[in-house]
Amino acid sequence: MMNEPFWGRGVRDWVDIQEPLQRPLYEAILDALALQPGQSLFDAGCGSGVVCVLAANRGFDVTGLDASSAFIEVARQRCPSGRFAVGDLSERLPFADESFDGAMFSNSLQFVPNAADALREAVRVVKPGGRIVVAVFDSPEKCEGQKPIGAIMSLLPAGPAASRSPFALSHGATIEKLLRDAGLEYEGIKRVEAPWRYRDLQTALRAFTSAGPSQEAIEIVGAEKLRAVLETAVSPFLQSDGTYLLENAFMVASGRKAP
Ligand SMILES: C[S@@+](CC[C@H](N)C(=O)[O-])C[C@H]1O[C@@H](n2cnc3c(N)ncnc32)[C@H](O)[C@@H]1O
Repeated sequence: MMNEPFWGRGVRDWVDIQEPLQRPLYEAILDALALQPGQSLFDAGCGSGVVCVLAANRGFDVTGLDASSAFIEVARQRCPSGRFAVGDLSERLPFADESFDGAMFSNSLQFVPNAADALREAVRVVKPGGRIVVAVFDSPEKCEGQKPIGAIMSLLPAGPAASRSPFALSHGATIEKLLRDAGLEYEGIKRVEAPWRYRDLQTALRAFTSAGPSQEAIEIVGAEKLRAVLETAVSPFLQSDGTYLLENAFMVASGRKAP
């Protein structure tokens, strides 16, 4: 089991500022799953349970797993009908074969060192005919958020890029291959726009600082250095009304397990 991750340390700002901006993405994931009320959903890397809440509102029976115990604590409070576990998607999932009607990864699979193995585990726990939806950032040129995120990542020590970069899977062909190699019938990719608009600089800085890589950067270079780097990175996105606007797109890919 991994150590407590950096994700979750900034949970309040993540929940209050960043998650609401991604609502179009979360709804698109649930639409792509096309589950019926009463059916079961596994949210792999569920974070603070934002999609679990929306899924429960649609009548789905939700189970979430995340490496961050801080996130899972908040998920349990927000989604009392859900079942939650702290766990590592790099390891065998603590669920029996064919436990769920569907499974999803919302911006989580790219952080798992061996994404292919994690996806195969999700396939194992989904019932025959069940759908798996994987959502990641669209390619960097479609995401202005890549600028501040890239600036944050530049503060971190070089590591296996594939396990660290938020954009590691941000290529349509990469996602398609992952789904096909996991034995799924590939159903396609939908593009979803989710602009990030912050009412002022402070709010933008709080949002970007709440993400896991920023929390890691604070340990390495300190909060002041991170703040200075972020201020520079977001400055091109200042609008005439004082807000900051970063256009972003996500990819929502789906595949189906053979019936
Ligand atoms: C960008 S957040 C996304 C959270 C949520 N799914 C959402 O869309 O708002 C990435 C999440 O992946 C989780 N994560 C990263 N690597 C993981 C691993 N190996 N096992 C479990 N969770 C992991 C983090 O703890 C974090 O909650």
